[in-house]
Amino acid sequence: MNHFEYRDGALYAEDVALEKIADSVGTPFYCYSAATLTYQFRLFSEAFSGRDTLVCFAVKANPNLAVIRTLAALGAGADVVSEGELRRALAAGVPADRVVFSGVGKTKDEMRFALEQGILQINVESLPELEALSEVATAMGVEAEVAVRVNPDVDADTHDKIATGRQEDKFGIDIAAAGAVYDRAAQLPGIQPVAVAVHIGSQLTDLAPFRTAFTRLAQLVRQLRVAGHEIRRLDLGGGLGIPYNEDADIPPLPDVYAQMVEETVGDLGCTLMFEPGRIVAGNAGLLVTKVVYLKEGGERRFAIVDAAMNDLMRPALYDAHHGIQPVRQPPIDADIGLVDVVGPVCETGDTFARRRALPPVAEGDLLAIKSAGAYGASMASTYNSRPLVPEILVRGDEFAIVRERPSYEDMLAPERFADWQA
Ligand code: LLP
Repeated sequence: MNHFEYRDGALYAEDVALEKIADSVGTPFYCYSAATLTYQFRLFSEAFSGRDTLVCFAVKANPNLAVIRTLAALGAGADVVSEGELRRALAAGVPADRVVFSGVGKTKDEMRFALEQGILQINVESLPELEALSEVATAMGVEAEVAVRVNPDVDADTHDKIATGRQEDKFGIDIAAAGAVYDRAAQLPGIQPVAVAVHIGSQLTDLAPFRTAFTRLAQLVRQLRVAGHEIRRLDLGGGLGIPYNEDADIPPLPDVYAQMVEETVGDLGCTLMFEPGRIVAGNAGLLVTKVVYLKEGGERRFAIVDAAMNDLMRPALYDAHHGIQPVRQPPIDADIGLVDVVGPVCETGDTFARRRALPPVAEGDLLAIKSAGAYGASMASTYNSRPLVPEILVRGDEFAIVRERPSYEDMLAPERFADWQA
């Protein structure tokens, strides 16, 4: 579900024509719909209505302050993986006691900052991390509420680079060893092991791996309770996929997912935490780009656009499919041809789509690259010294620049010559 549709022959974000935004900010730009963010967040959180839950938006999916604030206003907490993300969540108005800190490599400085803010929970992923946290908390005279993130050894059947719940993945503590880790945690000063966490991967389109993981988690919670640990919360991670390609994978809807959650862990009496990123933000954003040149190459036709792999890495990194739609609505009987949509970066991987069926495109046309609201701007870089692209938030008939395009002067400003080069 999203709020991008054709009206009077042009693609709109809610009640704002994308052409109008392009005229005002230039291309490329990311455009987010507040209505879609709201709809998707509510769809997820309301699937658990009547249950004691905390839905923590995975900030890594879209760390823009205005996006986080839109979700915080709906009651979202935040799942953060660095001090930078934590600072963003707090700056956007997420209360500290609705923040969970995940990640395999938190430093002591990051732990200290998080504890100073009074965040709800730290998810630890190794024994050395647990010991480091105990030292930090003890020195501060506080008790850290922790979850141990367990690795349930489940293959999430997603892209290899975003599967996280197999034994060979770097994430979590082997579920078979978890009992001993909780025993150790209970002895350590400054540590209160009150929760269990799991996250098996991202862009899952099938419920079966979730079901297996959550069933294993429920068994673990029962064992931990027998051993005397008071487990009050379960953090079930994120991972629910979105339909990038309407003809291919149709992921389960949140209420079907919620039903499975109820069946697997519903009787444990725990507060349920979730860390959705993609399902909230993915379809709430587009990357709008302009065709710079058309080029005929052997058997191929290339549309060279002004966005590139540095702006949206997913196709280059994961061979990800993103829908592409002309911003001017093509006539119903337009001739469909096969086009490679590519960026200007000097790598063949800088390709958004190969042999994509598209209506005729001309130089100067705007194209919308769809489902770019999650892991789009957040993974962008300045490779090829291309400035980060602006981010626009639309609400109804209003739009706001929620991150400006830096100037070239801004880009060069942090760099210095060495003394001997003066
Ligand atoms: N919780 C943890 C501990 C995570 O590692 C992640 C994502 C999430 C929650 C949110 O997962 P989601 O609901 O968004 O699937 N850059 C990749 C995705 C990487 C996901 C990393 N972890 C992509 O563009 O597909």
